[in-house]
Amino acid sequence: MKIKNICCIGAGYVGGPTMAVIAQKCPKVKVTVVDINEQRIQLWNDPDVNNIPVYEPGLSEIVEEARGRNLFFSTDVEKAIDEADMIFISVNTPTKTYGIGKGMAADLKWIELCARQIAEVSKSDKIVIEKSTLPVRTAAALKDILDSTGNGVKFQILSNPEFLAEGTAVEDLRNPDRVLIGGDIDSEEGREAMDALVNIYASWVPKEKILTTNVWSSELSKLTANAFLAQRVSSINAISELCEKTGADVNEVAKAVGMDSRVGPKFLKASVGFGGSCFQKDILNLVYIARSFNLQEVADYWEQVIIMNDHQKRRFAANMVRTMYNTVADKKIAILGWAFKKDTNDTRESAAIYVADYLLNEQAEILVYDPKVTAEQIYSDLDYLGSRSNDANRQAVTVVNDPMQACKGAHAIAVLTEWDEFRQLDWQEVYDNMLKPAFLFDGRRLLRPDTKREIGFEFYAIGN
Ligand code: NAI
Repeated sequence: MKIKNICCIGAGYVGGPTMAVIAQKCPKVKVTVVDINEQRIQLWNDPDVNNIPVYEPGLSEIVEEARGRNLFFSTDVEKAIDEADMIFISVNTPTKTYGIGKGMAADLKWIELCARQIAEVSKSDKIVIEKSTLPVRTAAALKDILDSTGNGVKFQILSNPEFLAEGTAVEDLRNPDRVLIGGDIDSEEGREAMDALVNIYASWVPKEKILTTNVWSSELSKLTANAFLAQRVSSINAISELCEKTGADVNEVAKAVGMDSRVGPKFLKASVGFGGSCFQKDILNLVYIARSFNLQEVADYWEQVIIMNDHQKRRFAANMVRTMYNTVADKKIAILGWAFKKDTNDTRESAAIYVADYLLNEQAEILVYDPKVTAEQIYSDLDYLGSRSNDANRQAVTVVNDPMQACKGAHAIAVLTEWDEFRQLDWQEVYDNMLKPAFLFDGRRLLRPDTKREIGFEFYAIGN
């Protein structure tokens, strides 16, 4: 089966970059990314390619190359579904905020809406691909909806979870560790659909890196991969607290441990805690699924990863308050970095939000600088927590577009995102312009302790 037309529902952090790379690598395939969010689509179509709504190194160049040639962004969801042979569903699947499974299960209402719309609009056979991260066995529900509400056309459902990491999305997509495709391997039609998707990826990914499995393995592998990654962060973070009590240094411990080839060096960096839209929601979802099968020990085991992460964020903020003589009321605190990691403008579940909220509860005055995050986003993140009125957030938090301005006259600085530019700051000048003692809290192990202490900072870093 030769695929000519691809549609992707959801023009977010996954749909946008993934489809841009497919369009670049398969110039003969027409790729249309659709979204119900008009503003988002407008930005994807902005003549100035620097205004696209997702910041990722290298992405705007690809969009510039492919947009209008074989890459299109549109709000006409029905037309794109109708024209497509292959439909990726890449909509959001956040943690449920209501009803059964509130705070744990994935909210699948957007997925179901997509399925119903695909069923209603389709007049020809389609391959429907789960690109969103979904609970294991969602494909069965999708198939039910598609088959029972469709117009008699045939649907093949594949699972093709996305493993890209924000901040390195383009590189990860161009050069993935693996591509995972789950499908109905027991039927001829199922195998054909899987082949069609394998062929798309094979345009640039070596065949041996494209894994095909049954659907359930594929769905569960994505949740498991995120759980393992987050677990490494929580494991090293747990050790960071012990380091602070014992005089060991967590970076040295991580290096020594990571050089064991069975452990490996990556993802062993202690920090103020992991963020991002995925790790927490996917682990909560895994815990929920395990509980729903009555696997209490399995659920408790993975839940501890989240408990540790929440603890790490809280203890970082609590340590700031304690160090500053047990009060930060009316003190100016500069927060450097709001994004959940460097090289992205995504702030979902960013540790900075929770640290700021904690400090605001202690009546601190906060100045924030982040090179890619807008003031609007920062206020909306804080408002979403509902800890105080929207007005109170705007009164207590000032967003500036210069790090020096954020730090001027501050009692303390907290580095909460590992943006490279924070390393290059003129730290002597920063120090000179601060109140004394000048407290500097490094939540990312970004800065060198010795040089900062030489300047005169009261310097605290996670696990040091
Ligand atoms: P996102 O929130 O950035 O984008 C989702 C988009 O889908 C939104 O723009 C929304 O308006 C749109 N949408 C929702 N319902 C729609 C409908 N019925 N019709 C048309 N558009 C609709 O979410 P993101 O980050 O792209 O994540 C998407 C999925 O990919 C999630 O399941 C996530 O777990 C998964 N994922 C995310 C990764 C990441 O790094 N952000 C990495 C790997 C997987």
